[in-house]
Amino acid sequence: MDVKEVERLIKISREHPLMPDTYIPWQEEPQPQEIFLPEILTSLQGLEIYNTLTPTQKLELGRHELVQVIASYAWGECLFCLFMTRHMLTLPVDNVEHQFLLREMIEELRHQEMFARAIKQLGGKPIKQTRLHQFFGEFSNKYLPADYLFMGSVSVELVTDVYGNHARKNPQVYQVLRKMFDLHNIEEGRHIVFTKSLLKSYSKKAGYIKRTLYSYVILLNIFFVRTMYVKQEIFERIGIENAPAVYKLAAQNFKQKFADKCLDDIIEFVDSWKGFNGATRWAWRLVLGARV
Ligand SMILES: [Fe+2]
Ligand SMILES: [Fe+2]
Repeated sequence: MDVKEVERLIKISREHPLMPDTYIPWQEEPQPQEIFLPEILTSLQGLEIYNTLTPTQKLELGRHELVQVIASYAWGECLFCLFMTRHMLTLPVDNVEHQFLLREMIEELRHQEMFARAIKQLGGKPIKQTRLHQFFGEFSNKYLPADYLFMGSVSVELVTDVYGNHARKNPQVYQVLRKMFDLHNIEEGRHIVFTKSLLKSYSKKAGYIKRTLYSYVILLNIFFVRTMYVKQEIFERIGIENAPAVYKLAAQNFKQKFADKCLDDIIEFVDSWKGFNGATRWAWRLVLGARV
């Protein structure tokens, strides 16, 4: 890892902190023309049923799904903080990696508080993770070696970054949320630079088997994230009839959208260390619908 580069990242984080309390115009209420999630990212847009929804139902769908997305981020980042704490204990306190992780953790804690505040402001009711999500989240966090967890984290960061970019660049989106995603994008950008440079050294040393395992860890992490957003309960909340059937369609629709919109960066990353091979490519196609 390039020590000078990491020191530069630490310096930016210290000297230019972005404080959610002041960076985001929390006092602004949503305007009548504002939406909460770009329509393209909602699970039903693109399906015929979407055209039968009333404007209020569309707005509410975006609000509930956005809440679900940021609640998932907050949970994932909280888990990652747990891992960072444990990992830092293995590094000397004056080690540059330790120093950066302290900065990252400070920022991640602020993000979690920011997401919670946004959820409150939107009157959101996040749906809890499934037991399976909880199990895999906690299990992998506890037992996977550090290099695998960093692989997982960078994949989630790259995917959520795309998501945030869609929201922050769409002028129709409620301005509190745009600023929130702006802040997140800037700070996560630095985390991604750090983690990628850390992973370069891991993947350089990795042989076929390890690269295959890395690839699977990333694939599963992305699958994990994707399946936390679309929830049947949300369709019930907004008064859609036959919610279970709609859920099935929505999950399929969202899988396709996710493959089209969110995977380019991560595919490029995995490809850069030859993570696609005969043992992994088929799974990426099947599970994520990725064109690899
Ligand atoms: Fe974050
Ligand atoms: Fe991060």
